[in-house]
Amino acid sequence: MTWLLTAVAVVLFLGDAAAKTHPADADALRLLKAALDPASIAPGSCLSSWDFTAADPCDALSSGEQFTCGFRCDAGDPAGLARVTDISLEAAGYAGNLSPAVWTLPYLQTLDAADNQLSGSVPPPPLSLDLRQLRRIALSRNAFSGEIPLQMNDISGWFPDFSPLSSLTYLDASDNAISGRVLPAAALPPSLLKLSARNNSLQGPLPPDFTAGIPNLQVLDLSHNRLSGRVPAALFVHPALQQLNLAFNRFTSLESSPQWWRPAAASTSGLVAVDLGHNRLRGPLPLGWVRAMPRLASLTMEDNLLTGMIPRRSPAETPLSRLLLGGNYLYGPIPAPLMAVKEGEAAVSLVDNCLFQCPRSFFFCHGRNQKQTATCRDFNPSFRSSSLSLSLHPSHLHGRRSTREGIPGVQRA
Ligand SMILES: *[C@@H]1O[C@H](CO)[C@@H](O)[C@H](O)[C@H]1NC(C)=O
Repeated sequence: MTWLLTAVAVVLFLGDAAAKTHPADADALRLLKAALDPASIAPGSCLSSWDFTAADPCDALSSGEQFTCGFRCDAGDPAGLARVTDISLEAAGYAGNLSPAVWTLPYLQTLDAADNQLSGSVPPPPLSLDLRQLRRIALSRNAFSGEIPLQMNDISGWFPDFSPLSSLTYLDASDNAISGRVLPAAALPPSLLKLSARNNSLQGPLPPDFTAGIPNLQVLDLSHNRLSGRVPAALFVHPALQQLNLAFNRFTSLESSPQWWRPAAASTSGLVAVDLGHNRLRGPLPLGWVRAMPRLASLTMEDNLLTGMIPRRSPAETPLSRLLLGGNYLYGPIPAPLMAVKEGEAAVSLVDNCLFQCPRSFFFCHGRNQKQTATCRDFNPSFRSSSLSLSLHPSHLHGRRSTREGIPGVQRA
């Protein structure tokens, strides 16, 4: 078997080495290098070996001293010319712009320029080109900025129109300085499975139909931006979405949905993990919202402005392995099954709320104290007097008797 693999590898190797690069692909590589700041191309880096006067890129790739790395040519076209299939720049501090010539490589499958100093905007792919091979774009940890002006109207958006990339499954543009608004899904291809634009400067609301055109999306990370307004209800009925991270934004509420009042069995949500921590969400945590996510195992809502009681889940639902609700204004009884959870069975935190029955003896009350009574009352005029009176009688703080009516927020594993 090993012998066979070696033989196959040698054949591919020879095949590549023998082939000249398609002239258009060689041009694209040349333009890619030319758009970079020459001073940022250090001796010994992949791009320093790209010498177009000395060698043919794909031909030299596996043998010579030129074109040692940074790209691959794993395809040949009917004319016998080698085609560029992969551009993966190493983290070498390359600065300058990303050339739009990358969109002229019809066989390109991966574009990875993460961990460099690239700046300017992400160039728009020409609508006329067929980029059906391109599956993966990784541009994270650079200095890309927006906004991308859209020709048809006055608004500017976060990404250019990526819909021509009709096989794109993975797009990571996190840790850049991309600004502008998140636009409706028309600008993203329906093939997308994972989308991250974490830690940028995106602002404004998420359009309610933002995910309508990306029905296969499984992971969405837009945390650490400046998004505001309502969190779209569509995210919580999306059939494919499993992980949603919108933490560290400025959202103020959840858009309500008719689904909240349907039986949980009718839920279409596949969400397993939701992080809405460090926003400005107000009001009670809607019971129907939590129930409409029957597969949910991890819920983080830390450091918001939530009031009301800890929501109840039915025993039929997936047990939560993580429930982080610290740093809010929640009040009322702590559900009995939650009190029964032992440290290590689940990650739970209820610190820094208005839960005066959160005794020190329970691990999920450790760390930060509950808020002062006056703080709770000032923040929330409807703050329940029963909680207040309990807080005034220390003997009640140690009992479990008032927690019986609670239905589990978290169940034992
Ligand atoms: C955000 O990105 C910047 C670099 O662009 C980095 O220094 C910072 O640590 C990142 N912040 C987070 C929260 O990831």
